[in-house]
Amino acid sequence: MQGILFSRLPTEVLSHSLHTGALAARLMKDVQIPGIRGAVFVAAAVYHDLGKAYWSERFLTAPRYLLSNSDWYIMQAHPLVGGDIAQELGLCPEAVEIIRQHHERPGGKGYPLGVEPCEGAIWLSAIDIVAAMTEPRDYRAEIPSEEEIRRELAWCPAYIRDAVLRLVIVNPNLAKEAM
Ligand SMILES: [Fe+2]
Ligand SMILES: [Fe+2]
Repeated sequence: MQGILFSRLPTEVLSHSLHTGALAARLMKDVQIPGIRGAVFVAAAVYHDLGKAYWSERFLTAPRYLLSNSDWYIMQAHPLVGGDIAQELGLCPEAVEIIRQHHERPGGKGYPLGVEPCEGAIWLSAIDIVAAMTEPRDYRAEIPSEEEIRRELAWCPAYIRDAVLRLVIVNPNLAKEAM
């Protein structure tokens, strides 16, 4: 099942998943998240976007204004779909919870449920953003600056933002190496 699901992921999403996993592995050398083993966190990072395996191709290619409200509803459900898949694959409950909450934000400001995320989900969300911002994309000419990444992480507790930023600042080639 695992192989079939991964083969359904568009190359860009698969590459992003592996990149996020690589960042997570590096983070786990410096950081300990209360109640989460390093390997569990890395597994959650690798599998976090598996829910996108059921996305239609146009979700990834169509400009935003062509997507309907129901398209957005389906796209924003990918953390829950991914959590269900991860559970079926036998990932532990801590990893499943992190996957389900990886777009939730403190204060209930995220999606899809608007719940308070667990600590592991906040860490994953932060490295997910850094991974996405440091990957090559057709629609942008260059990798965003440290200041732009810092702004995208403004919602994060400062200790998480600083630790995650250190990953890309200490080794600016990390993104290229991970791909
Ligand atoms: Fe996601
Ligand atoms: Fe992601």
